[in-house]
Amino acid sequence: MTIHIAAAPGDIAETVLLPGDPMRAKWAAEVFLESPRCINRVRGMLGYTGTWKGQPVTFHGTGMGMPSLSIYVNELLRDFGAKTLIRIGSAGAMQPQVRLRDLVLAMTATTLSTPSRGIFREVNFAPCADFTLLKAADAAARTLGAPCHAGNIYSSDVFYDERPDLEEQMRRHGILAVEMETAELYTLAARHGARALSVLTVSDHLVTGETLSSEEREASFTQMVKVALTAALG
Ligand code: ADE
Repeated sequence: MTIHIAAAPGDIAETVLLPGDPMRAKWAAEVFLESPRCINRVRGMLGYTGTWKGQPVTFHGTGMGMPSLSIYVNELLRDFGAKTLIRIGSAGAMQPQVRLRDLVLAMTATTLSTPSRGIFREVNFAPCADFTLLKAADAAARTLGAPCHAGNIYSSDVFYDERPDLEEQMRRHGILAVEMETAELYTLAARHGARALSVLTVSDHLVTGETLSSEEREASFTQMVKVALTAALG
């Protein structure tokens, strides 16, 4: 039991899938897992553990933004022995060829800062995905026929960013999409010798202004969870 996760050590699987929204953790556990049970509800941040194809899996919410994710992922890594962590979340597309509902696999994540920034002093640490998870997720997406892009994303600290010039520089440098968590997830996984990947669904488009309805978000979430489970556990 930690400050933010009221679970016994064995309650959490080595494979943890991390939606930002705690209600998505509940929904995914109920849809995908055999015998799901709630293992955390502190501050409404829900966690569920069950099995998928006979293998233990935990779904746990992270909240929005790197400071919130950092709390849960630190505790999962340090106190509960998580070994494979896959973020399943949404992102805003920054390139015209990346369409609404497409999947984005984050190879790396560009940032202004992360909660870990201070420990690197003048060094800019380059957070990166686990290559075996990345390859497996790409293969799973192809098998499902899900349009999928792999590359650099931007982990931002602000959802409502008022700097169009910065957005333009990101686009010029090939950033595929923006979200708010991945850079810190990859940094923490590296620090603790764990594997991490972010599988993201495009929920809004910064170039065209399109957004997904809540029903469409749910359908695309299903595909993303299948890709993440297959990448982690085959
Ligand atoms: N997550 C989903 N869409 C986003 C956006 N446009 N900016 C930051 N995070 C996001």
